[in-house]
Amino acid sequence: MKKITIAIDGYSSTGKSTIAKQLAKALGYVYVDTGAMYRAVTLYAIRKGFVSETSEDFESLIAALPSISLKFVHNEDLGFSEMYLNNENVEKEIRTLEVSKQVSKVAAVKEVRTKLVEMQKAMGKEKGIVMDGRDIGSVVFPDAEFKVFMTASPETRAHRRYKELLDRGDDVTYDEVLKNVRSRDYIDSNRKESPLILAEDAIEFDNSDMGLIEQFERMHNYALRII
Ligand code: C5P
Repeated sequence: MKKITIAIDGYSSTGKSTIAKQLAKALGYVYVDTGAMYRAVTLYAIRKGFVSETSEDFESLIAALPSISLKFVHNEDLGFSEMYLNNENVEKEIRTLEVSKQVSKVAAVKEVRTKLVEMQKAMGKEKGIVMDGRDIGSVVFPDAEFKVFMTASPETRAHRRYKELLDRGDDVTYDEVLKNVRSRDYIDSNRKESPLILAEDAIEFDNSDMGLIEQFERMHNYALRII
């Protein structure tokens, strides 16, 4: 079987990572969650005081980029990779609403994207990879053999995300999660640098009313037809 590149893009909380992980496991491919990389840079920026609800100092963030190291480390017990920021496991912290609120601002910074896209291209050099994000089919791997664009209504996505955050014990309201989903959709789709777009050769996949098993089976079948 030949090895291909699978690019999964789409709006926030569409369940991209769940499907991407399953697909990677079934095909014996590497899975890369690029959102985790933007989230880790954002966590760094928050900790340093470069971004907050009321202020942004992107110049200082850009100057600090060379001192930010990001690594995915496979956790055998969990069966997936966790994000390390300067050798610290930050997998939990990058998923908070606080980080979600700042991440789209940070991800719109050209220099941040240049650094992360370069790393992502290097990770996919050998193919045999499933990568999810916002610009994977359009910018990181425009030649990917299989491109998917996932969508679902903002309310469906906010419900899923709200439940996830509650399950983790976070103190959030549905309304603030919905507000965050809409605000990220807007910034991600309207930014100047690599906005979220439907690549012309991508398959659009609305999973508002689709269960996980059906989603996986459809995608898996598509992939097998190409491989
Ligand atoms: O995928 P996730 O929702 O964790 O991504 C968090 C944020 O990171 C997105 O809302 C977007 O602003 C940014 N992102 C991006 N490009 C990617 C992946 C994520 O701009 N390839």
